[in-house]
Amino acid sequence: EQQRAQAAVASGLGQDDELGDSKNLLQDPMYNVMNQYNSSNNSNSNNTNSRGNEYSALPEWKRQSMSGGLGKPSTGTISIKEQRASLPIYKLREELIRSVRDNQILVVIGETGSGKTTQMTQYLAEAGFASKGVIGCTQPRRVAAISVAKRVAEEFGCSVGQEVGYCIRFEDKTTPDTCIKYMTDGMLLREALLDPQLVKYSIIMLDEAHERNLHTDVLFGLLKKVCQRRSDLKLIVTSATLDAEKFSTYFFNCPIFTIPGRTFLVEIFYTKEPESDYLNAALITVMQIHLTEPSGDILLFLTGQEEIDTACQILFERMKQLGNNVPELRILPIYSALPSEVQSQIFEPAPPGSRKVVVGTNIAETSITIDGIFYVVDPGFVKQNCYNAKTGVDSLMVVPISKAAARQRAGRAGRTGPGKCYRLYTENSFENEMLAGSVPEIQRTNLGNTVLTLKAMGINDLLGFDFMDPPPPQTLISAMEQLYALGALDDEGLLTRLGRKMAEFPLEPQMSKTLIASVDLQCSDEVLTIVSMLSIQTIFYRPREKQAQADQKKAKFFQPEGDHLTLLASFQAWKNSNYSNAWCYDNFIQARSMKRVLEVRKQLLTIMDRYKLDVVSCGKNYTLIRKAICSGYFAHACRKDPQEGYHTLVENQPVYIHPGSSLFQKNPEWVLYHTLVMTTKEYMREIMTIEPKWLCELAPNFYRGVDPNKMSKRKRAEKIEPLFNKYADKDEWRISKRKKMK
Ligand code: CDP
Ligand code: MG
Repeated sequence: EQQRAQAAVASGLGQDDELGDSKNLLQDPMYNVMNQYNSSNNSNSNNTNSRGNEYSALPEWKRQSMSGGLGKPSTGTISIKEQRASLPIYKLREELIRSVRDNQILVVIGETGSGKTTQMTQYLAEAGFASKGVIGCTQPRRVAAISVAKRVAEEFGCSVGQEVGYCIRFEDKTTPDTCIKYMTDGMLLREALLDPQLVKYSIIMLDEAHERNLHTDVLFGLLKKVCQRRSDLKLIVTSATLDAEKFSTYFFNCPIFTIPGRTFLVEIFYTKEPESDYLNAALITVMQIHLTEPSGDILLFLTGQEEIDTACQILFERMKQLGNNVPELRILPIYSALPSEVQSQIFEPAPPGSRKVVVGTNIAETSITIDGIFYVVDPGFVKQNCYNAKTGVDSLMVVPISKAAARQRAGRAGRTGPGKCYRLYTENSFENEMLAGSVPEIQRTNLGNTVLTLKAMGINDLLGFDFMDPPPPQTLISAMEQLYALGALDDEGLLTRLGRKMAEFPLEPQMSKTLIASVDLQCSDEVLTIVSMLSIQTIFYRPREKQAQADQKKAKFFQPEGDHLTLLASFQAWKNSNYSNAWCYDNFIQARSMKRVLEVRKQLLTIMDRYKLDVVSCGKNYTLIRKAICSGYFAHACRKDPQEGYHTLVENQPVYIHPGSSLFQKNPEWVLYHTLVMTTKEYMREIMTIEPKWLCELAPNFYRGVDPNKMSKRKRAEKIEPLFNKYADKDEWRISKRKKMK
């Protein structure tokens, strides 16, 4: 309710009461809904579908059934105890406990929603395992860790942080009483850094192992070793899909425990033609379901926060324009950056006579189970980080999902009863274009942080590390190059003192380097703020129909040096307002994001204090701040291209300033970016001006002045070049040496 009210106020819908002619709407809801779509299409310049007549907007469906057993749909509200007893895992309680007693490692597979995450930890605690140590359960996602801990605390009859708690980056909700601890896999990895044998745990459950998250994959290797050294530690690996054999083989051929599934028939619809605007097609489909299909909630998969916010807002507007004559549609976003109070709303049943639509990222694919979903709308895309080891460039990209993911998404409609899944792609592209399974993150991401963590744990032989699916050697090499250039590794590939310090921070290496450099540069107070601001995804709020106004407000904070300092200026203005919420609303800044920034800042401050890193302010001396950032992100330096846009120094790749940047159309000669986002072009987000001479000064292992006799014309003009190839040789040497040692 609060969410809706907020959206209404923010979008200005609260003030207008343009309800339209309700009688007509009732007579032919579809027709009028289509009109709605057309009117909003006009404002959407990206829309490439031609909308000659109203009905052409409707995707045409082709029907196919997905196999599944039929069963009785559940009805009514039941007590928590009854709910627990009705889960498929319940009947296997004793058998499961016995299997854990008898085996050190166990792979458990079962359908999403069978009770693995919420029940197994409790069963094992009830069976006495918690008396020997904490029962830890990892989740690939923050949202899941929080929501599951809340649910289990409720079932257990305690408040979160007591017997049942959770721990995620920048937030620890555990106490010495905590015996069931949910955490992100990244947090367990950080714990392993301090306590390699993980002595406080009696059981570790690596949940959602099929997700093959980077941290989970690293934990596989680490825990396999710990199990060999600690015979009292139990390891449970759970998976929703059929990778079980592979997991079992990897973990010394351990037994596989199967929880028989309970799924209903899901009817699959494909579009007959590919959809050129999947967002619009998805929203039309949602409205179509809402207005024509029998009751049951809807789940729509989108790729990220901005897209989800936009979608929710459009849905809200369309529903608002239909007035009171159509059943209520509760619109609920779910993505990891949402505060947990808002997140937990997705679990609340829609009131009788209404329907809810949950619009989420692939977090809703397996991590969280929402009861009552009968309809799934699947555009078939996911946002992933992609890393090019050759260029060293990380980029977020929207890519097609795999067949396995598509099946998993469809399955979400068949948990409570027979359901329907609308795929916004053709059957042909499902059959012939989608990969069978997703590529594990470890094979498509920058490993800088992972290598730093492993090195800090004393694991130096990375090529010999027991990865389930090893990353490409080039990726490991480029991670080491990156760390070498940052000064975290020495010539021998061993951790330096700086590297050791960097590993203490739950931040990417460039970020922790920036923070540590800022201490020497005497600007750590400001850099701490910038780093915290950068750690939170979205600060500025930009509702669709008030974009100009929002942009104007944002422009007030713009600094000529760029977005990092703009973030700093916004934070400082908020601070001057005494951290006021009203100020945030006035300035189109998300108050809850700012609260999180403050929280992150506090956490980082604790680490700074622990390692006696001084927090000092440089006042308005922005040059120091820019130098600190440059000493972490020098590899992201770009120069203006004489024709258009920019090119990266490292690979001469064309990149462009994002229109939301404070430097958009200012086009300074030299900049560095914080992230690259690939949409229609490769866009740089959060950009800052730099002096080229800083590059050689701050990153002597990475850049050098050009020898005018040797270089190409372009390089001569730049008078600077990355030292890439030089270190490639060195790393080959380093690696061949390691190989011989084995
Ligand atoms: O891990 P798995 O997918 O096997 O299931 P689970 O997450 O343990 O969920 C079991 C049941 O607990 C779900 O069917 C939901 O009814 C309920 N649950 C909930 O109500 N709220 C949550 N945050 C998590 C689970
Ligand atoms: Mg689960």
